[in-house]
Amino acid sequence: MHTHGNRADAPYRFRFLAGLAVLDWALPCRFGALERMTGARRLDYMKRDESVETYYADSELGRAILDALAEMGKDANSLTIDDLAPIDAFHIRGRVATAELAGIANIAAGANILDVGSGLGGSARFLASQFDCDVTGLDITRDYCDVATMLSDLVGLGDSTRFEHGSALDMPFESDVFDVVWTEHAQMNIEDKRGFYSEITRVLMPGGKLAFHDIFQGPQGVVSFPVPWAGGQSLSFLTSEADLQSLLGEFGFNVLAWKDVTEASAKFFENRIPVMERRAPPPLDLALVMGADRMSKFRNLGHAVANGHAAVILAVMELTA
Ligand SMILES: C[S@@+](CC[C@H](N)C(=O)[O-])C[C@H]1O[C@@H](n2cnc3c(N)ncnc32)[C@H](O)[C@@H]1O
Repeated sequence: MHTHGNRADAPYRFRFLAGLAVLDWALPCRFGALERMTGARRLDYMKRDESVETYYADSELGRAILDALAEMGKDANSLTIDDLAPIDAFHIRGRVATAELAGIANIAAGANILDVGSGLGGSARFLASQFDCDVTGLDITRDYCDVATMLSDLVGLGDSTRFEHGSALDMPFESDVFDVVWTEHAQMNIEDKRGFYSEITRVLMPGGKLAFHDIFQGPQGVVSFPVPWAGGQSLSFLTSEADLQSLLGEFGFNVLAWKDVTEASAKFFENRIPVMERRAPPPLDLALVMGADRMSKFRNLGHAVANGHAAVILAVMELTA
């Protein structure tokens, strides 16, 4: 099997951080181009009848990212958040959507932000670096919290971002502490919408903002599985825009912005899928996160947003009560 990167040649900082993240750098490197082409790194057949955390869990992801960075010849001492952008934005349109939502939300410098379902921490690092904010990420997938912490350390944002393992339905935070609650593509995994927004309301300061980038049930049909957030119906809970607006109204939220980006999302897949079909992914790519069935996940979601089976919304709400 092809292997890439000689461990002995790996920059010291990679090895040090890998050790910190308990990534077992000492084992032989076994993630090569062949595996990237086949997407065989994740054993998706193990992921039946699973919880959300089991679905996303990947204890080898941190090491795979470090391998990819080393393979690309990236200098471990001068990595930027842009170097990580191909892997750390696990949502439609990547960094572009994050920046668009931040613009709509009018994030104030120095804001205390909570990112719920923070994944690998790309949005948290973007907000911390662009707006000089303090960002706490919360995620139910422990492996993602570990990788997010490692990546923040790598780009020197370990002080302004932190990642806690926990459930959005039982947040480990005091009440009324965050200026902004931010969330992208996590709500679709959560059946108990009332519990989710109740916790968000609790931790948000009065007058604070909720900014989200989420996928909704579309008017024309249902999504086919797998999609990036779920292998099947048991992990997917799409709600309608109307139902969510009504629920958020009950919690005392006013709509400041409600932007339908379904068309832009469809365009993203229209451009991206043919490229994915033509060539193997580059070393640092969401393919590392999404597994062997990533093409089906992209095709199904692309089809859903192009045909009215799913809608994609950027929204900013203000907590008035
Ligand atoms: C599709 S990923 C999006 C990650 C990140 N927001 C991003 O845009 O890059 C969905 C994330 O939501 C997290 N998640 C799902 N349900 C959750 C819950 N009940 N509590 C906390 N995190 C949750 C998952 O673990 C996963 O990291």
